[in-house]
Amino acid sequence: MTLMDIMKTALRYVPDTLLPGATHAPLRARHGHVGTPVSRIDGNLKVQGQARFAAEVAMEGLLHAAIVHSSIARGRIATLETAAAEAAPGVALVMTYRNAPRLNRPKAFMDGNGVSGSNLPVMQDAAIHWNGEAVAVVLAETQEQADHAASLVTVTYEAEPATTAFGAAKAQAKHPGSILGEAPLMEIGDAEAAHAAAAFRVDQVYRTPRHNHNAIELHAATVRWEGETLILHDATQMIGGTAANVADIFGLQPEQVRVSSPFVGGGFGGKGLWSHQILAAAASKLAGRPVKLMLSRESVYRLVGGRTLTEQRVALGASADGTLSALIHSGVAAMSANNDCPEQFTFPARHLYAAENFRLEQKITELDMLANTFMRAPGESVGTFALESALDELAFDLGIDPIELRRRIEPEKDPTSGNAFSARHLLKAYADGAARFGWDKRNPVPGSRREGEWLIGMGVATGTYPYYRMPGNAARLRLDADGTATVSTAAHEMGMGTATVQVQHVADRLGLALEDVTFEYGESSLPAGAMAGGSSQTAATLAAVIASAEAVIAELLKLAGNDSPLAGLKPDEVVARDGGLAHATDATRFETYTSILARAQRASVEAEESAPMPLELMKYSMHSTAAQFAEVGVNAITGEVRVRRFLGSFDCGRILNPKTATSQFRGGIIMGIGLALTEATEFDERSGRIMNASLAEYHVPVHLDVPEIDVIWTDIPDPHTPLGARGIGEIGITGTAAAIANAIFNATGKRIRDLPITLDKLL
Ligand code: MOS
Repeated sequence: MTLMDIMKTALRYVPDTLLPGATHAPLRARHGHVGTPVSRIDGNLKVQGQARFAAEVAMEGLLHAAIVHSSIARGRIATLETAAAEAAPGVALVMTYRNAPRLNRPKAFMDGNGVSGSNLPVMQDAAIHWNGEAVAVVLAETQEQADHAASLVTVTYEAEPATTAFGAAKAQAKHPGSILGEAPLMEIGDAEAAHAAAAFRVDQVYRTPRHNHNAIELHAATVRWEGETLILHDATQMIGGTAANVADIFGLQPEQVRVSSPFVGGGFGGKGLWSHQILAAAASKLAGRPVKLMLSRESVYRLVGGRTLTEQRVALGASADGTLSALIHSGVAAMSANNDCPEQFTFPARHLYAAENFRLEQKITELDMLANTFMRAPGESVGTFALESALDELAFDLGIDPIELRRRIEPEKDPTSGNAFSARHLLKAYADGAARFGWDKRNPVPGSRREGEWLIGMGVATGTYPYYRMPGNAARLRLDADGTATVSTAAHEMGMGTATVQVQHVADRLGLALEDVTFEYGESSLPAGAMAGGSSQTAATLAAVIASAEAVIAELLKLAGNDSPLAGLKPDEVVARDGGLAHATDATRFETYTSILARAQRASVEAEESAPMPLELMKYSMHSTAAQFAEVGVNAITGEVRVRRFLGSFDCGRILNPKTATSQFRGGIIMGIGLALTEATEFDERSGRIMNASLAEYHVPVHLDVPEIDVIWTDIPDPHTPLGARGIGEIGITGTAAAIANAIFNATGKRIRDLPITLDKLL
């Protein structure tokens, strides 16, 4: 490369100065990968059917498993007849509590390092804790033989009184110990008194139903034992936690459980540790053979928890100009006694709007049911339905445009903590969205727009999701003498583009081509990675990779020595480009990694660092926000609702890959359409049995339900996060149901406060 080439190249690489005052090392040079719509690097494997999912792992002598589920909610197994099943063709064994290996109790989420959905023992005694609990596992040579034999197991029960009706149980609702570590009651001033005295008042109850996880990939575990080491091929969004927890359950050392999960066919909070992985490992141990346990769709409903139901009160007190004197958001969610997931629906109200007085309170009531769990934006998805519907009701009563109302109550700082926002551009998201959506064409008078049978309306709502960071994730970065780099961390690829975005980042950070970067992930033997939850994996992984890259660059400068054009330069005086390092301003001082390593006679240089503790979370209120716009048509004769257009306008920091981000936002919004219009787990309150445990009867949105979804974003970096990015996996579902409900009100004048908004409610 000539001097002139180097100088021309240097001109193309504009130092990244987008982050003044950044608390994380900025990219020192931009090479055009971060921020561009790079296609998924795993895309070819996926469309060619070569990505191997947990249920597709071939093993010699593999046995297939089927589950028998309890048919009562609480009590004991009285009799258990397995002889007919054991005698059926192809059956290797039937495992019940009588012959299952003795196992330790799982640890539930929020209990130390627990990642289990429930802390109940798995198949250790005759006790039944929910309707659908596994009472037997049949292992056979084929899946059909296992399924047939499972139908031959007969069980009788001694039923005990069970609490399965929410309406009766909620009288005993109580404060949980905490809501994700926060107090269940937060009060500022006297909100009830301020509400009673307000000139304008809204006071309504909103209800949201149970929801089930319906990832396209069924939950599955393919397992084998190598002596006392368990090899677990799992579909999981928490590889490290699963390995550690399964080791505890089987009384093993952590390194005796190896979890592999390179591809996951969708995970929205439900791909954690449930009983099926434990049952598969226990049955495999008992049989002395490898086992595949892929849950049927019905079994997913019986064994994997979903979102719980909520009943929420939102009461707003306002003056004529919209100023809020009182913001009350309270209510009850159902939970089991064996988990800690209270569906934090009051969280949005803690951070979104200015008010003089707050009362935010959550209670739980315990039911005898399968433990509920996290599902895409737990809390915020259903909490924004209530809060943002109530704000729309207030705006209508006040005669103020709903966007203008939100402008008037925009807080200068976090309204309950008093902390500064790390970055918040919600009003810009509203302004940009309103212009693009054509909000000015909305007639605020309900029912004023009709096209044939269809009443047309527009609605808007705020979406919000916190910036979470979980400590304890690391990454290893190795730069080889051939000028290629490999990053290794036990991260997860559930279809969102994890590997792609991390490769973009490393390529930019080290000045490499995308093809020269390999991202190793999906194995518990790799350095501990962030879990794919809380929309936190991308930023957490970035932080660990940044720390590792800084260490690698420092080491390279040491290795470069006095004979290098880089002699004497410190890490903050160099930029990475063209497969090497250069002086930040004097482009003539440049040396490739290959040259540095060759002179130093090194095959590679490597560093493994942990993400620094995210101390900024203590100082700032860190949340993403969105302005969600819906246009609906409501059929005046049938009550059918069609979402005609949708726009999500997001403020989520810097967007690292517009292509994968668009898909994340759209996917969230599509789930929000299901939340608004179609999805509900039908729970028989007499028996505690889920009645619609199938995709035929649990209605997720299908193509015909999903209109053109437009997404835009502010792309304004958050100065306090790695690369200025915040998570984007969950925010799309938030605000969506309220935007649709508010559009339905604008179309019809009918305010529906119970989800889902099915057509019967509009007739
Ligand atoms: Mo999410 S509910 O943290 O997968």
